[in-house]
Amino acid sequence: MKFFIDTANLDQIREANDLGILDGVTTNPSLMAKEGIKGTEAILKHYKDICEIVQNPVSAEVISTDFAGIVEEGKKLAAIDPNIVVKVPMIKDGIKAIKWFTDNGIKTNCTLVFSAGQAILAAKAGATYVSPFIGRIDDSNWDGVDLIAQIAHIYRSQGFNTQVLAASIRNALHIVRCAEVGADVCTCPLSSILGLLKHPLTDLGLAQFLADAKNMQ
Ligand code: E4P
Repeated sequence: MKFFIDTANLDQIREANDLGILDGVTTNPSLMAKEGIKGTEAILKHYKDICEIVQNPVSAEVISTDFAGIVEEGKKLAAIDPNIVVKVPMIKDGIKAIKWFTDNGIKTNCTLVFSAGQAILAAKAGATYVSPFIGRIDDSNWDGVDLIAQIAHIYRSQGFNTQVLAASIRNALHIVRCAEVGADVCTCPLSSILGLLKHPLTDLGLAQFLADAKNMQ
């Protein structure tokens, strides 16, 4: 399973990248706004800055909702860097645009996916990635990981090439469960990635080893 970081914060992207295990980045308009980025030029420059840190797929989301607007915006985003993946919402014109991008060699990430039916449509249009939001599904009293398992099963049995990108990750256990059910990618906040490091027995064991090591000096 690949690890993407779900943020537009350059320091966090650098920190995750320095770990050596980062396979890409996803952003969305809310994450970009959180960094205080304003205006088209600043947005494009910020994506460029991310692409300079991480030489791996970087999802940049369109904000248009009509076919012509999504295509125009997506072309501008894709021109920033070969690693840009155009992130398109799961709406009717979005599906049409994903098909257009597929036919024109531009990679896409179909976002705001909450059902297997939506995931099938995204795959039919040729999306590179599909992003089911598991944390938001959990928030509404359903099991988001069950959806990842269902989509992964459908894609494999139907031979779809679209990668299942588990999004809206809230904790380290989400990452483990997504790996278990066959997600191709997990996009996570830095805190969830670092959460994977934690185990109290590791801390206790290390403290004991270091204490014993002092006796050897
Ligand atoms: C997906 O790519 C989104 O950027 C993100 O994972 C949404 O997460 P949230 O539900 O924590 O906002």
